[in-house]
Amino acid sequence: MSSKVIVTIFGASGDLAKRKLYPSLFRLYKSGNLSKHFAVIGTARRPWSKEYFESVVVESISDLADSPEQAQEFASHFYYQSHDVSDTEHYIELRKLQNRLNEEYQAEHNKLFFLSMAPQFFGTIAKHLKSEKIVDGKGFERLIVEKPFGTDLETASQLNSDLLAAFDEEQIFRIDHYLGKEMIQNIFAIRFANLLFENIWNRNYIDNVQITFAEKLGVEERGGYYDESGALRDMVQNHTLQLLSLLAMDKPESFTKDAIRAEKIKVFEHLIQPSQEDLKKYFIRGQYKSGKVNGKKYISYRSEPNVNPESMTETFVSGAFFIDSDRFRDVPFFFRTGKRLTEKGTHVNIVFKQMDSIFGQSLAPNVLTIYIQPTEGFSLSVNGKEVGELFNLSPISFDYRTDATASGASPEPYEKLIFDVLNNDSTNFSHWDEVKASWKLIDQIEELWRHNQVPLHEYAAGTMGPTASDELLSQFGAKWQWNPHN
Ligand SMILES: NC(=O)c1ccc[n+]([C@@H]2O[C@H](COP(=O)([O-])OP(=O)(O)OC[C@H]3O[C@@H](n4cnc5c(N)ncnc54)[C@H](OP(=O)(O)O)[C@@H]3O)[C@@H](O)[C@H]2O)c1
Repeated sequence: MSSKVIVTIFGASGDLAKRKLYPSLFRLYKSGNLSKHFAVIGTARRPWSKEYFESVVVESISDLADSPEQAQEFASHFYYQSHDVSDTEHYIELRKLQNRLNEEYQAEHNKLFFLSMAPQFFGTIAKHLKSEKIVDGKGFERLIVEKPFGTDLETASQLNSDLLAAFDEEQIFRIDHYLGKEMIQNIFAIRFANLLFENIWNRNYIDNVQITFAEKLGVEERGGYYDESGALRDMVQNHTLQLLSLLAMDKPESFTKDAIRAEKIKVFEHLIQPSQEDLKKYFIRGQYKSGKVNGKKYISYRSEPNVNPESMTETFVSGAFFIDSDRFRDVPFFFRTGKRLTEKGTHVNIVFKQMDSIFGQSLAPNVLTIYIQPTEGFSLSVNGKEVGELFNLSPISFDYRTDATASGASPEPYEKLIFDVLNNDSTNFSHWDEVKASWKLIDQIEELWRHNQVPLHEYAAGTMGPTASDELLSQFGAKWQWNPHN
């Protein structure tokens, strides 16, 4: 890994930079993954001085630093340049600063650009980086872009070609911060390092897969953004389909980025494009109305600030994806995601096929649950005998839960992902082929919804979504395994 690098952060005064990027860079610095040969250029429009920028950085890492001296020494690597991304003159100044710091820190011309701004600016920035020769072909040059990557296939394609004018696909790292989570990466270990699962991870043994991304919060102060986006674009196009690809892929030939990527892309290519009929039957949208949770009253989505009072935007979506592969043909991959649900959590349930009964007793399916957040771990439910004279069966569960992220033992997703970029490892980022295939699918669903060809179901705040989402699973003789109650 080369830790000799000048990192340029566009959007350095923003929320993400302060909450995630500076602390993650600091963790990398503290663990020795960033050497003394690194500097960070922060840019945004507001006219900050270097001193003020340093104080912002120090403040953002105050909980993590061992001493004020350590925090200050780290912050001394940070430089600020006030910059409007559409103003060419500023890139000339940026190039000068970049060159000066490259000499001062002996960074061997290595450059990392982090676009932590609204995506409408990405194309302009990439274009200027190239035309003003900040990207000059010397050293490594890598670009990290934040989500969302487009709002449909057309805008994503446009954005992609804008970036490709300055960077090659191998230099572009599209962030999906879920892919940096410890348990998402653990899926590989669970699947491929245990013959027990490796042998039965297919349509002969798996009845269905359930992916839940549940949020307890409503739209908070993001009403304006969310009302334009909705749950399908915000959560399914990226996180849900990425997670699905890790669960459904075949075993890669080796644990290398190219081999893993090739298998992931195959899953996206084999995602079945549903017929119009299936789209209506298998994809459910919902919107929260007011409700009471633990005695506290919550307002409806349409009453939230900056939300259109007649909004048709979905705050909940569930559905069933199918993959045309030998491994998983006809196995439904159910998903649901929503706001103002009963409990916060990202869970995967792998529901195995089961005999209906044995010795006259009905049997629950074996379920492997992968807990991704907020707790991390997994559990496996099996049928056991109840204590007592009679031979009564009931499910018991092998549980392994940790709170490694909270305790600081697991890396923060952004820490892990920036580490990967420094290593030139794109395994945990979305490839354009994946993004393209997922937008194609999402656009079809959006099109149907735009013409109101399927109902927008209501659900009360504090529930796990509309009943139509339960009925969806009933069509396949299945039910949601995770049913938290208020
Ligand atoms: N916050 C999160 O937790 C989160 C999570 C996932 C994804 N994201 C994504 O990350 C990106 C950044 O999010 P954020 O929450 O940090 O946004 P934010 O707080 O609104 O920050 C935007 C940044 O862009 C700068 N900026 C805006 N217009 C500019 C211009 N014309 N020229 C130069 N700088 C300009 C702003 O600084 P000035 O006003 O000083 O110019 C600010 O530093 C977005 O793409 C978002 O979708 C954020």
